[in-house]
Amino acid sequence: MIQPHIIKYKSREYDQMLTLRTKVLREPLGLNFSDKDLQADEDDILLGLISADTNQMVACCILSPIDKVEVKLRQMAVAEDSQNRGLGTSMLSFAEYVAEQEGFERITLHARKVALGFYLKYNYKIIGEEFTEVGIPHFEMNKQIRMEKEKQQVIDEVSKYIDISLTPFGKPQRGVIDVEKRDPMYDGNGIVYMLSVFEKGELVNNRIGTYMVLLNKGDQAGFHEHGSKKEQELYVIVHGKGEYIERIGAENITRRFELKKGNVTSIQGDNNYHSIINSGDEPLIIFVVTTYEKA
Ligand SMILES: CC(C)(COP(=O)(O)OP(=O)(O)OC[C@H]1O[C@@H](n2cnc3c(N)ncnc32)[C@H](O)[C@@H]1OP(=O)(O)O)[C@@H](O)C(=O)NCCC(=O)NCCS
Repeated sequence: MIQPHIIKYKSREYDQMLTLRTKVLREPLGLNFSDKDLQADEDDILLGLISADTNQMVACCILSPIDKVEVKLRQMAVAEDSQNRGLGTSMLSFAEYVAEQEGFERITLHARKVALGFYLKYNYKIIGEEFTEVGIPHFEMNKQIRMEKEKQQVIDEVSKYIDISLTPFGKPQRGVIDVEKRDPMYDGNGIVYMLSVFEKGELVNNRIGTYMVLLNKGDQAGFHEHGSKKEQELYVIVHGKGEYIERIGAENITRRFELKKGNVTSIQGDNNYHSIINSGDEPLIIFVVTTYEKA
């Protein structure tokens, strides 16, 4: 049996961890750890998987807090004779669990190019260009770990007011399939969530139909235009109250409206901008339809 452990700095388990890290991560590169490298471990969260049968450490990694929300995963290693048996997966999911328990929202890491596929599999995203570290190619990657919980909270909140379901002809009914957080949305104030009911490409001509949710008073979808993309966009107010603002060009605000349930807006054309702000005490829920002019 394999058991996850949180490891004390300079303990017997820490010695095992150092041996594993040296063998898997340093010796193949002809390198070793300096005292300075190891001092960095003292304030970090040290994690390992230990085989209960042999009492040996078979995988390890380290979480180094960067700030209150972000933690860096480093020194991920699985013993050579135990690789490709799911231990890296278990180590990574234990690290994500601990990071979330400690209140972090995002994990960042420097992935060796050869291990990129492993992290991509678990939804880590590549940030920026390839760079060299310890003499070999790396990529920076990150993953939002708290979004899952946050997504569910948004769906739960919206469900207090409306029942979201899609009935595609002849197919099973479904609810929300994804929540995207825009923080901010087009430089507006606060946060906007996009709740998808359609899969990407499911609507003809790649049109968009999605719920937009501004949970709290003051949350805003900032000014943006659709003319340059040859789009027309409709807002259908489903719940709540909103202040809707039209602007021509960069500065010229021409109209403001108080919108409520049932109201529909439409925008298209060059240089026309719109924005909406939640002006009520309940979530503002809008169904957004975006169409395209024929090419
Ligand atoms: C990279 C490493 C941590 C992965 O751990 P592991 O226990 O071997 O991986 P798992 O068995 O959990 O693999 C899970 C999945 O990821 C894939 N995967 C594992 N290593 C991979 C790699 N290097 N490249 C692409 N995919 C990889 C596996 O094929 C498997 O896919 P499957 O579920 O479709 O079969 C481990 O192989 C290792 O320590 N490698 C050497 C040191 C290293 O590169 N560390 C990472 C530093 S950033």
